Amino acid sequence: MDAVKVFCPATIANISCGFDVLGLALDAVGDEMILKKSAQPGIRITKITGQELPLEADKNVAGVAAMALLDALDHRGGFEIEILKKIKPGSGIGSSAASAAGAVFGINILLDEPFSQQELVPFAMEGEKLASGVAHADNVAPALLGGFTLVRSYQPLDIIKLNTPEELHATILHPQIEVKTADSRKILKTAISLKDGIRQWGNVGGLVAGLYTEDYDLIGRSLEDHIVEPIRSILIPGYEALKQASHKAGALGVGISGSGPSVFALSKGMEQAKQVADAFDKAYADVGVPFEIHVSKINLQGIKILERW
Ligand code: HSE
Repeated sequence: MDAVKVFCPATIANISCGFDVLGLALDAVGDEMILKKSAQPGIRITKITGQELPLEADKNVAGVAAMALLDALDHRGGFEIEILKKIKPGSGIGSSAASAAGAVFGINILLDEPFSQQELVPFAMEGEKLASGVAHADNVAPALLGGFTLVRSYQPLDIIKLNTPEELHATILHPQIEVKTADSRKILKTAISLKDGIRQWGNVGGLVAGLYTEDYDLIGRSLEDHIVEPIRSILIPGYEALKQASHKAGALGVGISGSGPSVFALSKGMEQAKQVADAFDKAYADVGVPFEIHVSKINLQGIKILERW
């Protein structure tokens, strides 16, 4: 095999209560990438369509992640990367993670899989480090593993793929403004109170329990964030209106997707998720910011091969 085309899913990180530790993969939104073996050593990004992003490998998250993988193997060969970008950078649904995950996944396939999906996560995290200054794993882990994932620990890295209830669907509203993860991390407080910690880890435990017992109400009750949301929601025009509208429309819960500006809601069933999309649409009409809405099943498989030749 000389080339592979892959689908790299968009992801929702944090999922309200799990800042930097929880994430999930989406089915309906994602990038495509083509990875090819090349006679020229090293990583070359030959083409990017859909967005203006650097072609220099050391300035591009896909390039940096790919180089981290080759370095770990001390591999002297070469690869070309082509990116069909459908997830906008700065959208809050894991644009950089999709590119980083796609690069390491595709090259790993072309090398006959020296690494497991879990083992690819640290290489993809190098891409996140370039994009946001911090090597967080809560987007790249679900992109590579699918479903819901939990980063139990960063040092040492310990990632757990969680159960995903069959009927869970996501609705995402993406206001067409760019929020850089690096910027939206800078505004966060570095210390939290014990009181806020207690509420937050109660919700993380509740959400994980709800995912395993497939208790949709418990999942909804656990989608609360007392630490990050109050600060970051200031960057999202119309956030409160979206929250109220989605609750009224029957969503289980609503929160900021990753570092924003996208807002997500989880629902039981596709019908409910579509009703939430209608409610989002109506609530945002008056905000004066253009937007896109996506409705998606949770993607159980994560990143996948579309073609190989
Ligand atoms: N956990 C990261 C953050 C995700 O919220 O900054 C960025 O997509």
